[in-house]
Amino acid sequence: MQRTLSIVKPDGVKKNLIGEVIKRFEENGLRVIGLKMIYMDKREAEGFYAVHRGKPFYESLTQFMSSGPSVVMVLEGDNAILKTRELMGATDPREAKEGTLRRQYANNIERNIVHGSDGPETAAFEIGYFFNALELFPY
Ligand code: CMP
Repeated sequence: MQRTLSIVKPDGVKKNLIGEVIKRFEENGLRVIGLKMIYMDKREAEGFYAVHRGKPFYESLTQFMSSGPSVVMVLEGDNAILKTRELMGATDPREAKEGTLRRQYANNIERNIVHGSDGPETAAFEIGYFFNALELFPY
């Protein structure tokens, strides 16, 4: 059993994809054990993406992530991190496999509709960034 954090990003929310993303995860054996809508401010987006500080896309990415509401969720299941990443597809939608969420719905590498943690340490940091223990409900 593993946990990961996923975000329906502001572009995904604006494209009415909240349900589609959750459905894809649930259909593939993941359980949503924490869920909320948030509107990140710039500082919160910068903290979330702190590992990317200094990269050329950091400023634009954190502006975009604080440009509208997002839906953040904690997913639980066998191999949750890898499974979530497979369902999302590659970061750049042009490289994402047919049938993946990003291939189907994303505009470009920045506006790629959905985020998922890329490893166990990142997942622990990212889950803790948005959820406390009392907001998670394993079932
Ligand atoms: P995400 O999975 O949320 O993790 C970091 C995000 O940075 C990534 O999805 C993209 O939205 C963005 N990103 C990564 N690489 C680039 C890039 N080369 N140009 C623009 N945005 C990027």
